[in-house]
Amino acid sequence: MKRVAILISGSGSNMEVLARDMAGDHPARPVVVLSNRPGAGGLAKAEALGIPTEVVDHTLYKGDRPGFERALSEALARHAPDIICLAGFMRILTPDFVGRWAGRMLNIHPSLLPKYRGLDTHARAIAAGDTQAGCTVHVVTGDLDDGPILGQARVPIEPGDTTETLAARVLVEEHRLYPAVLRRFASDDMTPVILPAGA
Ligand code: GAR
Repeated sequence: MKRVAILISGSGSNMEVLARDMAGDHPARPVVVLSNRPGAGGLAKAEALGIPTEVVDHTLYKGDRPGFERALSEALARHAPDIICLAGFMRILTPDFVGRWAGRMLNIHPSLLPKYRGLDTHARAIAAGDTQAGCTVHVVTGDLDDGPILGQARVPIEPGDTTETLAARVLVEEHRLYPAVLRRFASDDMTPVILPAGA
């Protein structure tokens, strides 16, 4: 059974679907949910699911990224994870930290990578006149929102979409894609997941 740590910064909706999926014949179990923000809504969701939580508040490490990452490593080490899932974790991790978890850390990003790395993905897709948007799960490397793609899901961009309406449509697909990828990855299967459109 693989041990999974989930890193969050916000509402933790992806964390929740991942955690709920890890039951029964699933090859992994959630062992900790870790947030860099003490007020992250996902912490209460994790506690309600009976998953241990940790907080490493990045604001206590102003100008000291190595110190922040050292604290992160120590908190993670207490739970001995095999796999780390970034699920709306909004801190950039250094190549040094990522290297320690090489090939064992996944991220979900709200765009069709390699398009729109970084922030404001939905606004940029709408501004560019794209007709499709989506989400990508990839292995984390030292380069931002890069690394081997393990799965993608697409949605249409509708006329009149705002960043909010598009984000909501993409989030539905994130909740289908991430659990499907983690199931494969935890079974040592790196075949990319391509979801059929619609639920
Ligand atoms: C998700 O849309 C995720 O793709 C995005 O943050 C949101 C977190 O929502 N991640 C990034 O932008 C990472 N660069 P959640 O907390 O409800 O899962």
